[in-house]
Amino acid sequence: MTEAAHTAPVPGPTLSAAGPLSGIVSVPGDKSIGHRSLLFGALSNGVVTVTGLSHGEDNLATARILGQMGVLIERDPADPSRATIHGVGLHGLNKPDGPLDCGNSGTTMRLTLGILAGQTFDTTLIGDHSLSRRPMRRVLGPLSQMGLEVLDARDGNYPPLTVRGNATLKGIDYASPVASAQIKSAIMLAGLYAEGETTVTEPELSRDHTERMLAYLGRPPKARPIHVPGDLSSAAFVMGAALLVPGSDVTVTDVGTNPTRTGFLDAIAAMGADVTHTNAREANLEPIADLRVRAGGLKATAISGALTVKAIDELPLLAVIAARAAGVTTIRDAGELRVKESDRIAKTVEMLSAFGIPCEVYPDGLDIHGDPHRALTPGHIDADGDHRIAMCATLLSLIAPPGSVITGTEAIATSFPTFYATMAAIGAAID
Ligand code: S3P
Repeated sequence: MTEAAHTAPVPGPTLSAAGPLSGIVSVPGDKSIGHRSLLFGALSNGVVTVTGLSHGEDNLATARILGQMGVLIERDPADPSRATIHGVGLHGLNKPDGPLDCGNSGTTMRLTLGILAGQTFDTTLIGDHSLSRRPMRRVLGPLSQMGLEVLDARDGNYPPLTVRGNATLKGIDYASPVASAQIKSAIMLAGLYAEGETTVTEPELSRDHTERMLAYLGRPPKARPIHVPGDLSSAAFVMGAALLVPGSDVTVTDVGTNPTRTGFLDAIAAMGADVTHTNAREANLEPIADLRVRAGGLKATAISGALTVKAIDELPLLAVIAARAAGVTTIRDAGELRVKESDRIAKTVEMLSAFGIPCEVYPDGLDIHGDPHRALTPGHIDADGDHRIAMCATLLSLIAPPGSVITGTEAIATSFPTFYATMAAIGAAID
């Protein structure tokens, strides 16, 4: 064992607030749209300029593996959120000289598999500890029906994966058992290479960024400029902080408000939050707005069905906010949370309990007993490679007495590399 393996994990910063949070801030680009801008830009027939691209590690992983397959992606040194992608066309990718390391990013691995289905070379894909536990059969199954050969996969389901594409893919009509944009997008990307039509149906509508980008760029994708709006999934943490600290008034500018992603906004509206949208506009068929939130009394709500899908990445955060909403908030139909960067149902319950918040676990969700006045206890929690759990626990430290210990916060850099700086910008103290 190396020396590092013996070292205890170093706890990350915690937060505190002497008074209300306030300010006007922006957040890094939407991770989902960022991945798609890179992948579709790479498959386009020319030079694609991207603005607003995040420098989070997940988007960097997608850019890096495209580089390994011969795609030149230049970042503007004066403004790294501006990138120039030199598209190679649908058939211009090269066999990489080693495994493609997708890091922590499930979207990178699953969407890239869709593209690899149409290549004639063999490729190995690897990921970190968290990604190596995430199921891939859900994508390998339909892609195999189209013609992808799976040469190796741990237990037929988990990374590392070795796959061989096929020059003659067949279109399929796939009824996905899960509402998952990653499954849908992998099949649609493979569909770009397939003979005949490819159709995907899903039990609820998952995020439709791939559909919008295809409609904008066309088939085969044309080189057109892309703007990546701020990530609502990151803005939600800024808004969540404002909802937790009485008297707060915070605005996040240039946030993506695609209706397949706005379950968080719907849920906090149902809890009684005061949110206003201004400056509504659109870029590459994606809606964008500035979002202002003011703290105020919240009440419990019920989240299930289509709302669960629209808020899938924000459910742990909604559970945190529910801790301050009077009554019992219920979250159901959320079994997918068990196969995210961690088992987010188990982790959310562990985290809430660590801070003294009563909750009950169900196979597909949880109940949270909210009380705006409950005295919390300082929490001890390991985020276990999960960026959203790390940010949720850090927000709870904001309203708990000093002494919380949160490990695994390095993962925050995968999606929201400016998290602490943004919290400081709205007036939170970084302890
Ligand atoms: C994503 C889809 C969702 C989401 C993930 C990003 C995407 O995953 O949780 O953070 O960009 O397509 P699933 O497709 O597994 O639901």
